[in-house]
Amino acid sequence: MGFTEGVSEGGSCRWSERLRIIMVLIAFVQVQSQGGSWKLLSENVGIASMHTAVTHYGSVIMLDRTNIGPSNITLPHGRCRNNPKDLVLPRDCYAHSVEFFPKSGRVRPLYIWSDTWCSSGQFGADGTLVHTGGDYDGIRRIRRFVPCPESNGTCDWKEDKKPQLYAERWYASNQLLPDGTFIVVGGRSEFTVEFVPPRPGNATYLPLLEQVDDYQGDNMYPFVHLLPDGNLFIFANRDSIVYDYRKNVTRRRFPRIPGTPRCYPSAGSSVLLPLRASDGFRQVEILVCGGAQLGAWAYPEELLDAAQDCGRLLVSDPDADWVMETMPIRRAMGDMVLLPNQHVTIINGASRGSQGWGFAEDPVLYPVDYDPRSPPGSRFAVMSPTVVPRMYHSTANLLPDGGVLVAGSNTHHFYTFNETYNTELRVEQFRPEYMSSELDFLRPAIVDFPKAVGYGESFSVAVVLPSAPHHDIELVLLSSPFTTHSFSQGQRMISLAVEPPLLVDASSGLYHVTCTSPPTGEIAPAAYYMLFALNYEVPGEAVWVQIVP
Ligand SMILES: *[C@@H]1O[C@H](CO)[C@@H](O)[C@H](O)[C@H]1NC(C)=O
Ligand SMILES: *[C@@H]1O[C@H](CO)[C@@H](O)[C@H](O)[C@H]1NC(C)=O
Ligand SMILES: *[C@@H]1O[C@H](CO)[C@@H](O)[C@H](O)[C@H]1NC(C)=O
Ligand SMILES: *[C@@H]1O[C@H](CO)[C@@H](O)[C@H](O)[C@H]1NC(C)=O
Ligand SMILES: *[C@@H]1O[C@H](CO)[C@@H](O)[C@H](O)[C@H]1NC(C)=O
Repeated sequence: MGFTEGVSEGGSCRWSERLRIIMVLIAFVQVQSQGGSWKLLSENVGIASMHTAVTHYGSVIMLDRTNIGPSNITLPHGRCRNNPKDLVLPRDCYAHSVEFFPKSGRVRPLYIWSDTWCSSGQFGADGTLVHTGGDYDGIRRIRRFVPCPESNGTCDWKEDKKPQLYAERWYASNQLLPDGTFIVVGGRSEFTVEFVPPRPGNATYLPLLEQVDDYQGDNMYPFVHLLPDGNLFIFANRDSIVYDYRKNVTRRRFPRIPGTPRCYPSAGSSVLLPLRASDGFRQVEILVCGGAQLGAWAYPEELLDAAQDCGRLLVSDPDADWVMETMPIRRAMGDMVLLPNQHVTIINGASRGSQGWGFAEDPVLYPVDYDPRSPPGSRFAVMSPTVVPRMYHSTANLLPDGGVLVAGSNTHHFYTFNETYNTELRVEQFRPEYMSSELDFLRPAIVDFPKAVGYGESFSVAVVLPSAPHHDIELVLLSSPFTTHSFSQGQRMISLAVEPPLLVDASSGLYHVTCTSPPTGEIAPAAYYMLFALNYEVPGEAVWVQIVP
């Protein structure tokens, strides 16, 4: 299909029609006593995924760890891993990583050699998952997964023998940088940052990580977000800074967030709220929600109440300070997932205790929706519950269909199926209310799009709107993060500048929508992004667009 000259539909806003659509939407939201629904995607994927990432083919890479004994899925073709260093099974014929295909429900076992326990990672510019650290023999490893289509089915993990990380890193956080390299921040007893590929100069001391170290740690899996000015926002325990990694200088230090510690093992979560072309990407905000009380990890038998607050920080304000809000439900070990409608889903976790084996009770089965653009006091809504507890070592990731894939949960050292909270092999999807078929009359479908775009480029997307005579179209990009321990490394969302749609063919409802790609690699580091079209805030299925430098 060619991009022929379109004809504008004309500016005559038929307000009565728009009003009808808005009334339908309001009525729809009101009849949902609890929004959204749940779908079981797989009864058993063979492993409890503690690290999860969605490839640009839409498949899902799941990882547990070695040194855990049998999982529930064996390696194919009688293959076994003979690693004398394995603490449980020196000859291990089980898979500890799988590729899951949400559409077909298929599972493909993958092969990892070294221990990936509490590792970190992120997709690079070419769609390769670059994965670092772990435990034991994996603690300094760099691994790569080059995704392939489901029909190919041969891609697998590759482990570099050399180079390795300078420092031993488990519980670190990675961030893709505008030049296509990665920074790896912190880890257990590791108060430094380093880069992948390794840069000369070894690991660089970052004082924040040591300064906030308390008797439980609480500085691990720090929340790292790349800011539009090219600096990094780094949050550990309750403190946060703006760090210029290029010059190794801390440029700002923010006030301490009130309340509990937020990082591992205290298990809050964080997102960079959507960056928007409509304000020139000037408004930059961080949201941190939930967490365990200080002491909940050190004294697990007390099962202390989790935090019920979120803090929101307008980083772009020179006098920024945390503005606190109250969630409807207490939550530690929650995951925060950016949705295409610019809301945040807060999902998974428990309302008492902390991260650790058997350290939590009262699983929170209800996701909570947070609308950052609503006025304070009306931002949270409780969604419909699942029946599956997702506590320690569980994950949540956005899929291209707009639903949230939820996997994992293992509150035990090994795979255990005879306790109250069993090792969880089921994979579900939380389907926000915008996925309801009652809204299909608004749902846009992207039918043609460029596979790759540069920075600040104007490009067109062909969109079909099924029956709605009017439209309110947005285009947004969402990265695909690496999710583990309540934090999605590299999660970001960019709302694009969109011109009024041009009607190309009235009979098929085909429109051309012209938009401008993100201006810089600081706003959107080169990588594959999910491009969603939304109509009246109802998204269709995303397509993958590669942003190239
Ligand atoms: C997985 O679990 C099921 C149900 O307990 C069991 O029947 C099956 O043998 C297990 N498979 C492996 C490879 O452990
Ligand atoms: C399968 O994917 C790999 C990359 O992971 C590639 O090297 C190989 O050529 C592909 N094979 C086929 C048959 O497409
Ligand atoms: C940097 O790390 C390498 C490998 O770990 C080591 O051999 C070298 O001495 C280190 N250099 C400095 C300046 O610490
Ligand atoms: C980076 O800065 C810290 C102080 O903020 C300093 O201790 C450290 O030595 C610096 N690292 C390098 C490689 O300059
Ligand atoms: C579950 O099985 C393990 C290993 O056989 C055993 O030690 C444990 O007591 C069992 N738990 C329950 C609740 O039966």
